[in-house]
Amino acid sequence: MYPRWLLAGCIVLVAQADGEPGHIFVDPHSGHFVDTYGRVRIFHGVNAVLKVPPWLPQTDHFTSDNSLDAKTMDLLQEWGFNVVRLGVMWPGVEPEPGQVDQGYLQRVRYVVDELKKRGIHTLADLHQDLGSRYFCGEGFPEAYVEELLRDPSSQMSQVPRFPHPFPDLPRNESGVPSLQGCLQRLFSEYYSTYQVGALFAELYRSGSRLQDGFLRFWTAISNEFKDDPNLLGYELLNEPSGTCLKAHDAFACRLSGHAMPVEFNNKVEAYYLTPLYQAAARAIRETGAKQVIFYEGTVWPKVGADVFPGPALGAETQQALAYHIYCQPGDGDNWPSGLVCDAAQEIFERTYYPFLHKYQMPGFMTEFGAVGGNKNEMKHITNLLDAADKHFQSWSYWQLKTFRDFTTSNTAEAIFTPDGQVEINKLSALSRTYAPAIAGRPLKMEYDSFKRSFVLDYVATVKEAPTEIYLNEDLHFPGGYSFVAAPPGCLSVRQTRRNWLHLHLAEVKCMGLVMQIRIYPSPQTMV
Ligand SMILES: *[C@@H]1O[C@H](CO)[C@@H](O)[C@H](O)[C@H]1NC(C)=O
Repeated sequence: MYPRWLLAGCIVLVAQADGEPGHIFVDPHSGHFVDTYGRVRIFHGVNAVLKVPPWLPQTDHFTSDNSLDAKTMDLLQEWGFNVVRLGVMWPGVEPEPGQVDQGYLQRVRYVVDELKKRGIHTLADLHQDLGSRYFCGEGFPEAYVEELLRDPSSQMSQVPRFPHPFPDLPRNESGVPSLQGCLQRLFSEYYSTYQVGALFAELYRSGSRLQDGFLRFWTAISNEFKDDPNLLGYELLNEPSGTCLKAHDAFACRLSGHAMPVEFNNKVEAYYLTPLYQAAARAIRETGAKQVIFYEGTVWPKVGADVFPGPALGAETQQALAYHIYCQPGDGDNWPSGLVCDAAQEIFERTYYPFLHKYQMPGFMTEFGAVGGNKNEMKHITNLLDAADKHFQSWSYWQLKTFRDFTTSNTAEAIFTPDGQVEINKLSALSRTYAPAIAGRPLKMEYDSFKRSFVLDYVATVKEAPTEIYLNEDLHFPGGYSFVAAPPGCLSVRQTRRNWLHLHLAEVKCMGLVMQIRIYPSPQTMV
């Protein structure tokens, strides 16, 4: 039971213009994302990645599978999402090696600006899967791959042809495998092929044409967005591969062909990814861009090693770890895979959270999900989001719409059904109560999605801007809610618009005290 400092009934309704998202920094002392007021910021949102030309969702009208238009963006805002991880695709930026397409950059800018109007930050993601359509994936401009395939001295020409060690696939006259053939296998298995390994080895080789192009990509993007605080940051490389990198390492390639579910060291991170990321960070900082730089390790969780030997960008304060957590919990009746999924989540969490705590770095779960809507799947993502809250982590669900996603583990991944309806179970799990802005040092944030009760404890240190709480009233509190805050008299509470509460510090003498917020469904609606 709650004590008598009940504040329910005193919530003032005020109309207030939405603020612009504003510049986000890493506070190196706490390892949180903070804004210019010093509030800790937490991001919830979605991925929007179009893996085929024209490399950006269309923006002029609503479609269930392929738009990031005004209506869709309004819904994102209504659902409490404040970030979109946007696939800013390399072939879009650099259609031919050395040529940057300014028109594409302007189309990206339009999306960033439209999101900004709705208080939504953009995280720029150099997205790729397997690098090339020649290898059943996408992400790098094909001209680089064609050059390597033609060059007899390249590692790519010298290793067994894709998809070796898997059986060959039907191809068209240009040698591109048929999509139908590709889809016979889960795309991630193709990372365990020699030519995909050779492609990544080339990306990681300092001075290669491919790496030069990669750096040119980041120069172009950061140069365009360096003065834009609504661009949250730059995620350097989606799901970098550490498999089959060495031509002579046939054993490793064959072994990993059987999809090792864990890794036991961080050598790829130490020897390949760290230098690549440092080079990209130099390119970005040379333009004057100050936003946070996000980077990923290889995809499998690690046992017995840190994800990176240390922060990959060294003394750079504005760096953050991006990570993905996936597992396939199966359907409601399939309990063994549910258990395997719980265990996998545990290993992932032990890979990322101790590392983040050790180095006081912020983390962002930039992908998870790719699930349909069954009970086990909803339980899985809810578990994951509970863990994210516990560690004050930000996240973006994979993904908003299908966007013709051909490299995914699940075609039922979207929040929208093919006929344009919203998957309400999925939305309910994702549109959860949270505090996007905390005016102080967070101690605890917890949302019990079964009881629909919310807990937020923090030490008040900011008085210029409010703590903000998002709660989806239609989905989670259809009969209303009660709001409780302690200590009494410290916070004035305003509902700025439906679903949003702003908690201003009412008394300077409350600075430094622990604020305790509790929200729960109105008693009359509880059965
Ligand atoms: C082979 O397929 C790729 C990818 O769909 C396409 O870009 C290319 O034009 C095709 N080549 C031929 C000769 O049809």
